[in-house]
Amino acid sequence: MSLDTFIEEYHRVFSRSSRTEYVPTVIKEAYNSVVIDVYGRRYIDFSSSASVVNTGYNNPKILDVVEKQLRKLIHYTHIYGFNEPALKLARKLISITGVVNGKVILGLSGSDANEGALFLSKAYNRRTYLLSYVNSFHGCTLMAAKASGIDLSRRVVRLLGEEGKTIFLPYPDCYRCPFGYTRGGCRLRCIEIVEEKIDELNGDVYGLIIEPIQGDGGIIPAPEEYISELQRILNKWSIPLIVDEVQTGVGRTGRWLAIQHYGVNPDIVTLGKALGGGLPISAIIGRSNIMESLPDFSYSFTLSGNPVASAVALAVIEYIEENNLVERARILGEHVVNELKGLMKEHELIGDVRGKGLMIGVDLVKNRETRERAVAEAKKVVWRSFELGLIVFSVSGNILRIQPPLTIEEEILDEGVRILEKAIDDVEKGRVRDDVVKMVKGWGDY
Ligand SMILES: Cc1ncc(COP(=O)(O)O)c(C=O)c1O
Repeated sequence: MSLDTFIEEYHRVFSRSSRTEYVPTVIKEAYNSVVIDVYGRRYIDFSSSASVVNTGYNNPKILDVVEKQLRKLIHYTHIYGFNEPALKLARKLISITGVVNGKVILGLSGSDANEGALFLSKAYNRRTYLLSYVNSFHGCTLMAAKASGIDLSRRVVRLLGEEGKTIFLPYPDCYRCPFGYTRGGCRLRCIEIVEEKIDELNGDVYGLIIEPIQGDGGIIPAPEEYISELQRILNKWSIPLIVDEVQTGVGRTGRWLAIQHYGVNPDIVTLGKALGGGLPISAIIGRSNIMESLPDFSYSFTLSGNPVASAVALAVIEYIEENNLVERARILGEHVVNELKGLMKEHELIGDVRGKGLMIGVDLVKNRETRERAVAEAKKVVWRSFELGLIVFSVSGNILRIQPPLTIEEEILDEGVRILEKAIDDVEKGRVRDDVVKMVKGWGDY
């Protein structure tokens, strides 16, 4: 079957609401940081399949655990009964997240973890409003979508007639400050706004949900002072701090959780994506008084706590511990940021390089002064990188999302950066066709 026929059939059988496309990759197999397509072409993968394979594709140690657990027990209900891998995993999750008096709910996706965190928080204090952020993304189930500030989710929620009760705060973005300040030269107006909003609502807020590094909104790390101030304000009103670590968690940013960079103890943490190393599993870890606020058996999924997914999640965490991958993410991340910042001398297209650990954003701009988003150029870089053997995705229209596996070999990481530079150079020199812009769809129009 030709690639065109294959893709055509794909479009015919799958609902358009369930996928988008960047480049036509039909992947057949993958090893650590390299994927191979059905034609035998090799690509370095800077996406980790959307921040999922932190421990690398087909990691032999993790495959071993999958195989052993599959042969022993594929499933025995965790919601009516008990299984050992689920218990071991919950114990470990409480320890790595450091949530005080923590309890756990296991689920299947980042969306259902956030959905549950919002249910619990609302059931806990029965207040009315949720605080979230412009351009945030928390998932596609109803509460998670209503909490998401990204344009796509806002359009869906409006279409369903489900708007209301979420207040979207400006995210503390120091590169494109919503208040027009420059980095370091502000009075944290973004935090004053939070206090004003809560005052205005007279504290009738059931929770605040935040990504410590906004992911799909553009790889934007919140500044250090912001999060500690935020916790002070929320504590004053007893508003739970819900930290969405679905993209940032499991070692990606050079800490187990991105929130740990800020020395803040959240009330609820959600994990997904990388937790299962590619198998569907998510977790909510929260303070027991919040976690016990719903009736018995009222937030459970038949397949949650599945022994294979739980055993694999535990193996992912243990692999990261045994191989010091959290520290490795920090060190490799610093190296990549330095390399990419070095490229700024030659390449005007790069407006900013930012991130923590191996969660890095490269902000492409038409003009460094105005910081106008170079959306078409970013799509061309994604396409050209693919032609040259590198998979890299973009978010927020113009930001390249660099998130390789934490296990990526150093020479392959450097090879990927060199390909990216060549792609940027080719785009700057007008060597990439204009029509590829239509093919790279990503998160829609910006
Ligand atoms: C921060 C964040 N939260 C939640 C989600 C939703 O996770 P899932 O797609 O597993 O439902 C995502 C997915 O991109 C995410 O990045």
